[in-house]
Amino acid sequence: MKKFTKFIGLLLMGVFIMSGCGAESEDVAKTGSSDESGKETKTELVWGTNAEFPPYEYKEGGKVVGIDAEIVDAIAKKLNMESRVEDMNFDSIVASVQSGKIDIGVAGMTAREDRAKMVNFTIPYTTATQSIIVKEGSPIKSSDDLKGKTVGVQLGTTGADYVSGEIEGVTVENYNKGSEAVIALTQDKIDAVVIDNEPAKKFVEANQGLVVLEKPLTEEEYAIAVAKENTELLEKINTALSELKESGELQKIIDRYITAE
Ligand code: ARG
Repeated sequence: MKKFTKFIGLLLMGVFIMSGCGAESEDVAKTGSSDESGKETKTELVWGTNAEFPPYEYKEGGKVVGIDAEIVDAIAKKLNMESRVEDMNFDSIVASVQSGKIDIGVAGMTAREDRAKMVNFTIPYTTATQSIIVKEGSPIKSSDDLKGKTVGVQLGTTGADYVSGEIEGVTVENYNKGSEAVIALTQDKIDAVVIDNEPAKKFVEANQGLVVLEKPLTEEEYAIAVAKENTELLEKINTALSELKESGELQKIIDRYITAE
């Protein structure tokens, strides 16, 4: 009997120590819940993307991988949530965040003013610029040479806006995927493609006879889109992102996909 009470005492002590054991168990209480068996079920973090944008998001054996996928996973881990991806057309992402079909949009998405009227953006996680892809030996050497030419872009992107807004007399061809624009270029259906710099490099690596004109055309920052009313999630993700920046984990993720020249 004496032994038994001692055992109970120890057990209770253990419970006390564990319940006071700080941030991690608190997070579980906030974001996790329990099913009937008492097993913990994690809340889902549904992220929408357009997995046609290497190295940020692309498919490998049916799975969406890339910088953004890893960033989402690192954030989800910090929030004790489980990530699930919804792949869609790029120009549907903002509306899907607004309607709640997805919790966040993570798609190499530039935090642009007009989009910020519809969704909130987190702090930026990287910078980017638009680049021009042409065929080797093309007379197009800079953005000035795009005048009067036919240029392929991905529908609804900052690249599409740049070309139609900044280049005189240009014919813009819209494609749902950057890769489709690149194929059209290899088939001489268009004269150039304007797309974000890192995807431009990946597309050129994957197709013979193309080059990137790397002179930066724009200054952009990528951030995560969150619904206007979901300010709690916005704050949590901002905290997670700052931690990932400070710890160097974010840079490590980027370095796995982009080798500095
Ligand atoms: N940065 C550009 C924009 O925000 C292009 C992003 C395209 N992303 C994608 N996953 N297809 O408009």
